[in-house]
Amino acid sequence: MIDLNYRNINCEIVGEENGLNIEEEFDNYKETIRKIIADLNSNKDKPGQKLQWMNLGYNEETTWYVKEFAAMVENRFENILILGMGGSALGGKAVCEALLPPYWNFLTQEQRNNLPRIFFLDNIDPDQMNALLNILDLKKTLVNVITKSGDTAEVMAQYMVLKDKMQKELGDDYRKNVIATTDKNIGILKQLSNQEGYKIFYIPDDVSGRFSVFSAVGLLPFALVGLNIDEITQGIKDMDLALKNTDIHYNIAAQNALIHYLMDTKKGKHISVMMPYSNRLRYVADWYCQLWAESLGKERDKDNNIVNVGQTPIKAIGVTDQHSQIQLYNEGPNNKIINILRVKEFDTTLEIPNIFEYTGISYLGGKTMNQLFDAEADSTIASLIDYKRPNLTITIPKITPYYLGQLLYMFEVQTAITGALYNIDAFDQPGVEQSKNYTYALMGRVGYEDSANEVKSKLENTVFS
Ligand code: PA5
Repeated sequence: MIDLNYRNINCEIVGEENGLNIEEEFDNYKETIRKIIADLNSNKDKPGQKLQWMNLGYNEETTWYVKEFAAMVENRFENILILGMGGSALGGKAVCEALLPPYWNFLTQEQRNNLPRIFFLDNIDPDQMNALLNILDLKKTLVNVITKSGDTAEVMAQYMVLKDKMQKELGDDYRKNVIATTDKNIGILKQLSNQEGYKIFYIPDDVSGRFSVFSAVGLLPFALVGLNIDEITQGIKDMDLALKNTDIHYNIAAQNALIHYLMDTKKGKHISVMMPYSNRLRYVADWYCQLWAESLGKERDKDNNIVNVGQTPIKAIGVTDQHSQIQLYNEGPNNKIINILRVKEFDTTLEIPNIFEYTGISYLGGKTMNQLFDAEADSTIASLIDYKRPNLTITIPKITPYYLGQLLYMFEVQTAITGALYNIDAFDQPGVEQSKNYTYALMGRVGYEDSANEVKSKLENTVFS
């Protein structure tokens, strides 16, 4: 299983001012945590509680459908193109980048075992989009449009550009190259898909975007590029079982939730850094940042009091950021808790050849890159201790579908428990909706006229266009 080592959160290690008396806090919060976990599990099937993401690992029907579809289109496409924003793209990207061999899209078809390349378009930068469209042969591209609400401006604009181009190049047959993943009741994408005859996959009710990675939002792309989704779901189920334990002493999601909550509210650590020592996990850090920020950054609590809570998540990459952000983490404001994410066993061992006699570098020869990576992570932790910076280490045994399923699900549960500790709704995103609505207004969507005038007056003299 995944391991959480919180030794360096203790006040004996990082001092009274920065650390916690962790065993005492576990005892203080034992009952609160027990209730939160019990509530999560007993409410997860209740409509409106937005907890259906806790059931996604058990959704055999979706697993069956996505596998069936992937088998049906096997060998037909050279590229998968995902159109989606935020929660509709980040989880898929995180898992694919972690589990596919690095530089997957650069491999030959043979090296990829005839499996398609995969591209996530989660921005609308015209230069980037145009460049990608110039690279992709649309006849050999399967486009998966993913939007839960079914009308997010960015995704629908991307889709409109693609549809037009594909129809011009492929004629009516273009329909076979489009699939939609959306809500089954609401949104324009569903209506459009029915009209156009696209294959549709549904996102269950009560699953917010950033908690949707294990619905068809993620599972379908995973199956299309040949990832083992049974192993992923097994990882989720095993982690779910472990996290049903209501005793904080045996529940790593609850431990990390409480540690983060107390660090923020008692010790002034308002920033949560996620620092994987693995390049393949770099997008997991992005996904975590969205999950943490969008779920916990809230103006009001559940009793409607203004609270303005939430830690700011930051992504850092080991070792890359040892040569950039670590200076700040060690010597700047002591306002962070640092999550070091480590991998016990890499797929590859890379030896550093013994080719130089110079004393300044000869110590490297004969060692492995893996040893150096480990030493770098250890050094970062040691220096954080020196500077009394609270840090903890999450270790996954290996980057496999099984452990990725465990890891992501663990973070989801951790986020839900932290939300409950803050007494906020971790599953809505009014701040995101606000800017979505302003975009509709500025782009002239019918029904948003009043909003448009309001935004324009707010932005007077500052607008770009
Ligand atoms: O987590 C969320 O809810 C958001 O990040 C959404 O995923 C994002 O705004 C995209 O929304 P939609 O899937 O409705 O297009």
